[in-house]
This record gives sequence, C-alpha cells and structure tokens, in this order.
Amino acid sequence: MFAPVKIISGGLEIREFGPQDAAQVAAFVAADDRTALPPGAPQTVAEVDEWLTGTVRRRLDGDGVLLALLDAASGEIVGSIGLRDIDWRAGRGEIGYGVRASRRGRGYAATAARVVGRWALTDGGMRRVQLRSRVDNIASLRVAEKAGYQREGTLRMADWDGEKTHDLAVFSMISTDVGTVDATR
Ligand SMILES: CC(C)(COP(=O)(O)OP(=O)(O)OC[C@H]1O[C@@H](n2cnc3c(N)ncnc32)[C@H](O)[C@@H]1OP(=O)(O)O)[C@@H](O)C(=O)NCCC(=O)NCCS
Repeated sequence: MFAPVKIISGGLEIREFGPQDAAQVAAFVAADDRTALPPGAPQTVAEVDEWLTGTVRRRLDGDGVLLALLDAASGEIVGSIGLRDIDWRAGRGEIGYGVRASRRGRGYAATAARVVGRWALTDGGMRRVQLRSRVDNIASLRVAEKAGYQREGTLRMADWDGEKTHDLAVFSMISTDVGTVDATR
C-alpha cells in the first residue's frame, strides 16, 4: 500500500482524489469539461462516487495513487497526476499528468511531476519513476525536462491513437537522482 500523499508546492496542494471532490468532479463531468480529470475518470455523474472510492482502494492495495492538483489558495481542481503500473519487486512506477486547459502554462505540471517523482522515490518506496510522452507532445516533453527527469530514448511506434502510431519518448527519475534512497534497497 501507499500512505496518503499531501504536498504543498508551487501554489498547488497535491493530494489524493477522494469523496470530498465529488461536487467538483461531478461538475466537470456534467459539463464534459474533462481536461482537469485523469484518463479513466467517470463518463457520467452517477459513477463519480464509486470512482472516488475506488481511487482510495487502489492506493491501499498498492496499485497506484491518483492525486488531484488543487489551486492551494482557492481549492479548485486544476489537474491531476498519477503513479500507476506499479512493479513492487523492481520498485518501478509510471507517472502521468494533465492540467485543465484554462490553467496551463503556469508551471503546475512541472511542479507536480517533480515533487510527486521525489515523493515516489522516497516515501513511496520506488526506485524508478518512468514517464512516457508522445514525441510530438512538446509541452509534456518540456514538463519532463523541467521537472528533472532524464530522457532515456524513444520507443518507436509504441502508441496507437486509433488511426496512426506514435513514437514515445521515455524519461525517468531514479532513486540515486534524488540522493535520498539507497538504490540497492
Ligand atoms: C502537458 C501538460 C500537462 C502541461 O501542463 P502545464 O501546467 O501547462 O505545464 P507547465 O506550465 O509546467 O510547462 C509547460 C511547458 O511547455 C511549454 N510549452 C507548452 N506548449 C508548447 C509548445 N507548443 N511549444 C513549445 N513549448 C510549449 C511551456 O512554455 C512550458 O515551458 P516553459 O516553462 O519553459 O515556458 C498540459 O499541456 C496537458 O494537460 N496536456 C494534455 C495532457 C497531456 O498531454 N499529458 C501528458 C501525457 S504524457
């Protein structure tokens, strides 16, 4: 399992999605305004409560964490970041993020990727946090770079959008990068 996460940084409060977010999430879903929500978020308002409960369960089961990015001043949800595809034996997980379209360009994603990467490699017990991004997703490539991830290479034709393939850039942050975790642990 993962312990609950709460991080304040760069104007953001970063913490788990949970029942307290039901009204905001339901409003996004009802308005079909989905850019603040992660992939896999509910399609209908009726599914919101179950989704939020399942998010907590996945953390307790050690399957990952799904965190809301909140404007620390207003409490508004401005995006999300998750750690998923956990391999506990290798100590590996993959990070993914999104920021609400109207809130982009303020450094939120880079802040979140940096501090959640560091959390994963310390309190989260991971050795490696991986990040994959389509090579034409310039904003995401820039986020990875700004957040301190190292670009390792390209997975050619690794993604399919239903019409065509995309190459994926692979980045990582590892425990020795943050210098606080014994890489042999
Ligand atoms: C990728 C995404 C999360 C970035 O969120 P954000 O909060 O705007 O990111 P930041 O403000 O931290 O940084 C964005 C950087 O990309 C740069 N950028 C954005 N669009 C760009 C473009 N078209 N060309 C060049 N640079 C661009 C910004 O200038 C900024 O860099 P800078 O600080 O050096 O100026 C956001 O665009 C998003 O949600 N996209 C859709 C979901 C997605 O692609 N997720 C990533 C999947 S791997």
